[in-house]
Amino acid sequence: MVGKLMKAVWYNSYDGGSAALKHVEIPVPSPDVDEILVKIEAASINPIDWKIQKGMVRPLLPKKFPFIPVWDIAGEIVEVGPGVKNFKVGDKIVSTLGVTGGGLAEYVVAKESSTVFRPPEVSAVDGASLVFAGCTALHALTVTARLNLVKTQPRSNILVTAASGGVGHYAVQLAKLGNIHVTATCGARNIKLVKNLGADEVLDYKTSEGSSLKSPSGKKYDVVIHCTSGIPWSTFEPNLSKNGIVVDLTPGVRAFWTYVVNKIMCSKKQLYPLIMTPKAEEIECLVKLVKEGKLKSVIDSRYPLSRAQEAWTKSIEGHATGKVVVEP
Ligand SMILES: NC(=O)c1ccc[n+]([C@@H]2O[C@H](COP(=O)([O-])OP(=O)(O)OC[C@H]3O[C@@H](n4cnc5c(N)ncnc54)[C@H](OP(=O)(O)O)[C@@H]3O)[C@@H](O)[C@H]2O)c1
Repeated sequence: MVGKLMKAVWYNSYDGGSAALKHVEIPVPSPDVDEILVKIEAASINPIDWKIQKGMVRPLLPKKFPFIPVWDIAGEIVEVGPGVKNFKVGDKIVSTLGVTGGGLAEYVVAKESSTVFRPPEVSAVDGASLVFAGCTALHALTVTARLNLVKTQPRSNILVTAASGGVGHYAVQLAKLGNIHVTATCGARNIKLVKNLGADEVLDYKTSEGSSLKSPSGKKYDVVIHCTSGIPWSTFEPNLSKNGIVVDLTPGVRAFWTYVVNKIMCSKKQLYPLIMTPKAEEIECLVKLVKEGKLKSVIDSRYPLSRAQEAWTKSIEGHATGKVVVEP
């Protein structure tokens, strides 16, 4: 691939939204010893991608400008580094690029250690969609909240906020695999969809019942997987069971403060801020569930790379139902 050019989309400074995304032609990258070169078939956008552009993790990310955003990809291997042991040219894969990004392009290099095989039953779009959102849902449920998704005894009650979003729609489905009772919040237009994903009770977040987060059947929550923002601890607290916890995926200063205060006070109810980095074994687990027909990705919209700005805008607006995908 030396000397070959590829299409890519990058930005050159903080802020600017979709208007700051520029289409460029640059050399196809070369894989390092432990890397693979992937022809991207699908890349999925997560809020973290445009939050980095907004400077919300400034000055840590991006590591340098210009920066090609997007972490989650699926595609086919076209070249392998000399130290790569488990993959060969022609393999279909799913990978997390992490903070180095690179997904809004025709080709990208990925670490072997962050890559998993994609069986024919899992489309590139499904594979790319799963990575950050699915791993976050899986990690929040099984590691942070320590729920058993194979069998739960006694049956837990959980609340998933923003259950129509990327993370939330996976969280609902994964929780149901563990026979967990799920209450979910979403907008009115998505209530049917979220019920079809398996939620037992659904609250419209724009109603007073929805904003109070009270379960319609009066159940208290053992776990809240909190996938939206702007809900204070004082709203969660009365809805939690005796040892109930909130896993906060959008923690701000107040969330960290609540975490510290609850710890100092030895409160039985706790809030845990979660900052996630997907791992290959978690992606592998999700790919297997999709292959077995136990998990599905809801796709909000698909765009060619030439319309990446529209995909970016769609994600920034915060009203996607499921995942936003770009296909080079
Ligand atoms: N901490 C971590 O490591 C981590 C990992 C992944 C994601 N996150 C964060 O988690 C959040 C969710 O990510 P995502 O990918 O799921 O986002 P997303 O797909 O963009 O979420 C969009 C969905 O959220 C719904 N929504 C918005 N406000 C809501 C509210 N107040 N109540 C209920 N539903 C609401 C929208 O429904 P309507 O269209 O009806 O408004 C829409 O369907 C983001 O802030 C993201 O940055 C954090």
